[in-house]
Amino acid sequence: MKWTLESLPNQNGKTAIVTGANAGIGYETAKALAGKEARVILACRSRERGEAALKKIRETYPQAQLELHLLDLTSLDSVRQFATEIIDKYPQLDLLINNAGVMMPPESKTKEGFELQIGVNFLGHFLLTGLLLELLEKTPGARVVTLSSIAHRSGRINLDNFKGEKPYMSMREYGQSKLACLMFALELQKRLDAKGSKVLSLAAHPGWTQTELMRHQSLADVLSRYLAMPTLQGALPTLFAATAPLPGGTYTGPNGFFEAWGFPATAKIRPHAQDAEMQKKLWQKAESLTGISFLSA
Ligand SMILES: NC(=O)c1ccc[n+]([C@@H]2O[C@H](COP(=O)([O-])OP(=O)(O)OC[C@H]3O[C@@H](n4cnc5c(N)ncnc54)[C@H](OP(=O)(O)O)[C@@H]3O)[C@@H](O)[C@H]2O)c1
Repeated sequence: MKWTLESLPNQNGKTAIVTGANAGIGYETAKALAGKEARVILACRSRERGEAALKKIRETYPQAQLELHLLDLTSLDSVRQFATEIIDKYPQLDLLINNAGVMMPPESKTKEGFELQIGVNFLGHFLLTGLLLELLEKTPGARVVTLSSIAHRSGRINLDNFKGEKPYMSMREYGQSKLACLMFALELQKRLDAKGSKVLSLAAHPGWTQTELMRHQSLADVLSRYLAMPTLQGALPTLFAATAPLPGGTYTGPNGFFEAWGFPATAKIRPHAQDAEMQKKLWQKAESLTGISFLSA
């Protein structure tokens, strides 16, 4: 049986954060959760785009409990500021959805000098998760869902290229960042288990979905308008990972050809993403670059 929006259980009483909630998969994820009565915190870098998304969701769900908080993942100060606001304001956090992302932009760096894709897609979310972990721990049944991609398959981690030390290759850097997201989600679950925590960490990927992600690649952008899945369908693996009775460490994605299209199911994790030594090294590197240490031995 297909897992669809109708399969999403009621979320009354739950609080969810969705990063990058103003567009694409993040917007549909936030809207679906709000439609099922969750309180949803839209974590967006632009007040204007965030408010527009909030207003648009309310057109469909006038009673939606939505709050906008600014989060710019290109700045670790912004991540810290956002986490402080959340911890001060909310007594619980049921779902942290690490969704925001950039794909193959022109070469650029975050405020701390990280290559943009590893910085936004992975390192910013690593810090965010670490800062919010205590709040998640306080909330029975809490989950972290981190967005990866089919691109993890060709990705390779080069710990000496997080600051753009090598000549820039946009697709290589995107693959690395999405592999890092998947390895982080898996390592996070191992460390939560080791500590006896009840928080779950899962990863999800949306196959090939019509969004604004391919804005920097004109051919892919045009093709995706005709061939990729509708945006809501692409949000389903995230919603499935966030709410279905799945064990921690599960990776979800579409069940059809190449996992590019279809409905949510367990997705395949390539062996190199399960390299335990590299998972540990990646964690340590992220700790040293972001200045946070959590769930460490
Ligand atoms: N679409 C696909 O086929 C596909 C496939 C595999 C994986 N994914 C993953 O799915 C996730 C969502 O992407 P999407 O396809 O929905 O793309 P999208 O339509 O471009 O949405 C990306 C979201 O991330 C936000 N964002 C970008 N940089 C940010 C920053 N520095 N700080 C905070 N937010 C930031 C964007 O905000 P602005 O609007 O302000 O830019 C936007 O809200 C990403 O992690 C992506 O890697 C997508």
